[in-house]
Amino acid sequence: MYELIRREFNLKRDVVEIGSGIFPLLGHSLREYQLKIGGGTVTVYDSKVWKGYPTKAKLINGYFNDKVKLEKNSLLVGLFPCESTEMIVERALKENLDFCIALCGCNHSNNPSLTTREYHEMLIEQLKEQISLEKFLKIRYFPKACFGNRHNGFPILLVKNKSKVKKFALPFKMR
Ligand SMILES: C[S@@+](CC[C@H](N)C(=O)[O-])C[C@H]1O[C@@H](n2cnc3c(N)ncnc32)[C@H](O)[C@@H]1O
Repeated sequence: MYELIRREFNLKRDVVEIGSGIFPLLGHSLREYQLKIGGGTVTVYDSKVWKGYPTKAKLINGYFNDKVKLEKNSLLVGLFPCESTEMIVERALKENLDFCIALCGCNHSNNPSLTTREYHEMLIEQLKEQISLEKFLKIRYFPKACFGNRHNGFPILLVKNKSKVKKFALPFKMR
């Protein structure tokens, strides 16, 4: 997940990780990378996060919610953020932010009869309809090597800006 985020996004910006669990390893790695490239911040939210963990990321022992202020152009990330998944997506859509979320195996919809796969598909279809025109959705899948069969195939959703096509002027007039 760290490698994917590092490859796909400019990290000289405010990065907010939601749902780190006890050990904020992802946020820590992203912060270490920022220190190498000389820019950005990482803030990690989870009521379970161990505040004593040795890291230069900012650890917030509490839940991320609507009241948390986000800088323009923040990047939201979550590794199996579980029940906060939809809130992250909604917030990112509302503020037109980039995000990267590895979906967990739960069904967080109002329809309990959906399988995990059906729930993921529904979420992806909704997202496709809702992202702004200047962004696009990229889907990657969790590799088996990381977690064994349990997380194999679960989607990782990346929403990011489309690259800008440079406008240029011809050095002569067209007839
Ligand atoms: C399935 S765990 C994943 C933990 C870790 N990222 C991992 O992959 O092992 C989900 C985490 O999300 C946290 N969480 C749920 N809602 C949250 C919220 N609104 N803000 C921050 N963390 C939240 C929970 O406390 C829990 O630690």
